[in-house]
Amino acid sequence: MNVLEVEDLRVRIDTPRGVASVVNGLSYSVAPGETVAVVGESGSGKSVSVAALLGLLPGTATVTGSARFHDGDRVRDLLTLTEPELRSVRGNGIGMVFQDPMTSLNPVLTVGRQVAEGLLAHRRVPSRRQARERAAELLAEVGLPDPRGVLDRFPHELSGGMRQRVVIAIALAGEPRLLVADEATTALDVTVQAQILDLVAGLQSEHGTGVVWITHDLGVVAGIADRVLVMYGGRCIEDGGVDDVFEASAHPYTRGLLGSLPARTAAVGRSDLVAIPGTPPPPTDLPPGCVFWPRCPVRSDPRCEHEQPPLQEVAGRGGSRPGRPHRAATFCSSEGKVS
Ligand SMILES: Nc1ncnc2c1ncn2[C@@H]1O[C@H](COP(=O)(O)OP(=O)(O)OP(=O)(O)O)[C@@H](O)[C@H]1O
Ligand SMILES: [Mg+2]
Repeated sequence: MNVLEVEDLRVRIDTPRGVASVVNGLSYSVAPGETVAVVGESGSGKSVSVAALLGLLPGTATVTGSARFHDGDRVRDLLTLTEPELRSVRGNGIGMVFQDPMTSLNPVLTVGRQVAEGLLAHRRVPSRRQARERAAELLAEVGLPDPRGVLDRFPHELSGGMRQRVVIAIALAGEPRLLVADEATTALDVTVQAQILDLVAGLQSEHGTGVVWITHDLGVVAGIADRVLVMYGGRCIEDGGVDDVFEASAHPYTRGLLGSLPARTAAVGRSDLVAIPGTPPPPTDLPPGCVFWPRCPVRSDPRCEHEQPPLQEVAGRGGSRPGRPHRAATFCSSEGKVS
């Protein structure tokens, strides 16, 4: 059984320039212990797609579709929960780490108080004293020097990287069923990043935590992902097992994005997504056919301009787990020729 099943997620946001179609029919699932990496150029809708699941979008946004979250025997559609229900799910069943750590921290409470509150609220520890002890341990686990000293400091007294590690400690403290991380380790030193990725892997093997990990860093994707979901123009244009996507990308966008990586090993180490000539279409003005068509280096099928290619199964090893195929939204064959 999956931890999360997202189906036909759509997000429209009212803007002064018209309605922005930011997420356009996204479907994916995350199995227990599985890590799904979400990649794509800036503006492809990665952050909005996860913020939508957690009720963190502004009132100008309209969200449709479903997002079933399996927490033990309970299955809830996150998109139908009330704000108090979502608050209890966030940070309890679902841990989250976002791009800007200040948005997740309360500026007027000490770090110790914020980490301990979470532990007490989730009944991970019986007393305040033990909560403080455990909070110090967690801060040490995310690589913060002088964790006891940090407990008594306020968020503004810490550096950006230190704040990010506090947010990660809070997210992991709840031993969540699902961890949603949006550029969680991008600002951190490589050694600290490796320590945090190890912590997450430990949580996954111990508690079967499913992970959605948004990143521009292909080294991280190669190191931690079971599956990769490639977003463009608010759509999933390719997804599959990490080896399938890295070694046999079926969509010209993915091939451009990965810089025509010859093999997965080429991505190990720190390397970021490659820039593709041109810019993504604004979400207020998406092209009618294939969303990548205006920039596509191999476009030649007349259908691409008018028809949106559906996600279809393509050749691959079938992903890292049974029942998780390699899919791509393209009329091209995997060699880039028209099918
Ligand atoms: N509150 C908002 N109002 C209007 N448009 C928005 C809002 N939030 C996001 N968008 C638009 O939605 C699109 C997707 O944004 P999103 O933040 O999800 O991109 P992203 O893939 O996370 O990019 P990055 O890699 O830079 O973090 C962008 O075009 C952005 O301008
Ligand atoms: Mg983002």
